[in-house]
Amino acid sequence: MFTQNTLKNQCILVTGGGSGLGLAMARSFHAFGAHVAICGRKEDRLRTAAEQIGVGTLYRACDVRDFDAVSAMMKELDEEMGGLTGLVNNAAGNFLSLAEDLSPNAFSSIVDIVLKGTFHCTREFGRLQIESGRKGTSILNIVTTYTETGSAFVLPSACAKAGVYALTNSLAVEWAAYSIRLNAIAPGPFPTEGAWSRLLPDKSIEEQYLKRIPAGRYGQHDELANLAVFLMSDLSAYINGHCVTIDGGERLMAGQFNLFANMMPREQLKFFFDMVKSSTAKK
Ligand code: HXC
Ligand code: NAP
Repeated sequence: MFTQNTLKNQCILVTGGGSGLGLAMARSFHAFGAHVAICGRKEDRLRTAAEQIGVGTLYRACDVRDFDAVSAMMKELDEEMGGLTGLVNNAAGNFLSLAEDLSPNAFSSIVDIVLKGTFHCTREFGRLQIESGRKGTSILNIVTTYTETGSAFVLPSACAKAGVYALTNSLAVEWAAYSIRLNAIAPGPFPTEGAWSRLLPDKSIEEQYLKRIPAGRYGQHDELANLAVFLMSDLSAYINGHCVTIDGGERLMAGQFNLFANMMPREQLKFFFDMVKSSTAKK
C-alpha cells in the first residue's frame, strides 16, 4: 500500500518519538519518505532513537509542558526542515492510582503533559501553517480507547485524553479553513516499556488483561505505525476530525455476554450452551 514516496516532501515532528509507539511511527514515517524530527525530555534516548530512525532525523530535548520551549523548538525545526508539514502529538504520562490518593501535582503532571502539551505543540504548529499559507498539512493526536468512556484508576489520563479528543474535533472544523487536518488514533494495548512498567507491571494481571481482547493478542507496533502513515499521508486527504480505534475489538467487550468469548475453548462453550438449552428449551 505504501511506497517510499507516500510521505515524500513531508516534514513531521513526533513528540515523545524517542521510545515506544512514537519511535515506531517515526521509523515508518522515515521509511515511507518523510523527513522526521522527534522530541522528548531525555536527550540520550532521543539521540539513540534518531540513529535508529534513519539518516537526517532531527531531535530536540524539549518538555512539552514548557510553552516557550515548545515555541522555540517549533520555529527552529520549521526553519531547519524547510517547513514542518505534520505534527504527531504522542508524548504522554500515565500511572495507576486511586483517585482519592492523587495529589494536585500528580493530577497536573499528567494533564500538563497530555492536554496542555498537546495544546502547546498544536497551537505553535498551527500558527506556523497559517502564517506560511502552506496547504494540506496534518496533525495526528494519540489518545486511548477510554477517551470516550473514561476509566477507573487512571483519572488524570482519562480527563486529559478526553480533552485532546475535544481539541481534535474542535480544530478539525476551525482550521479546515487553513487546510489543516486533525485526526486521532485510539490504540488499545500495545506493549511498550513506558506503558507496561506503569500500568501492567505484573504477569498475572497481564494474563487477565489479555483475556479481554477478542483478537486474543496485543497490538504490534507496525500495525499502529501503518495506520499513522495512512492518516498523515495524502491517501487520507478527505479524512478530517476522525478518531480511528485500533484495539483488536477490545472496546466492544462492554457487550454483556462477550465475557464468554475468551472464557473457555469453543467446544466447551458449545457443550455448556447445549446443556442450558436442554434445560430450558421446549421438549
Ligand atoms: C501516584 C504519582 C505516581 C504514581 C508520580 N506521581 N507517579 N502519584 N502514583 N505512580 C506523582 C508524584 O508524587 C508527584 O506528585 C507528581 O506525580 C509528579 O511526579 P514527578 O515524578 O515529579 O513527575 P515527572 O518527573 O514530571 O514524571 C511524569 C510522570 C512519569 C508522568 C509521573 O511517570 C513519566 O515521566 N511518564 C512518562 C512516560 C509514561 O508515563 N508513559 C506511559 C504512557 S501509556 P507530588 O504531589 O508528590 O509532588 C498511556 C496509555 C496506556 O498513556 C494505555 C495502555 C492500555
Ligand atoms: P512511552 O514509550 O512511555 O512514550 C511516551 C513518550 O512521551 C516518551 O518518549 C517520553 O519521553 C515522552 N514524554 C513524556 N513526558 C514528556 C514531556 N513532558 N515532554 C516531552 N516528551 C515527553 O509510552 P507509549 O506506550 O509509547 O505511549 C505513546 C502514546 O500512546 C501515548 O500518547 C500513550 O498515551 C498512547 N497509548 C499507548 C498505549 C499502549 O498500549 N502503549 C495505549 C493507548 C494509548 P521522555 O521520557 O524522554 O520525555
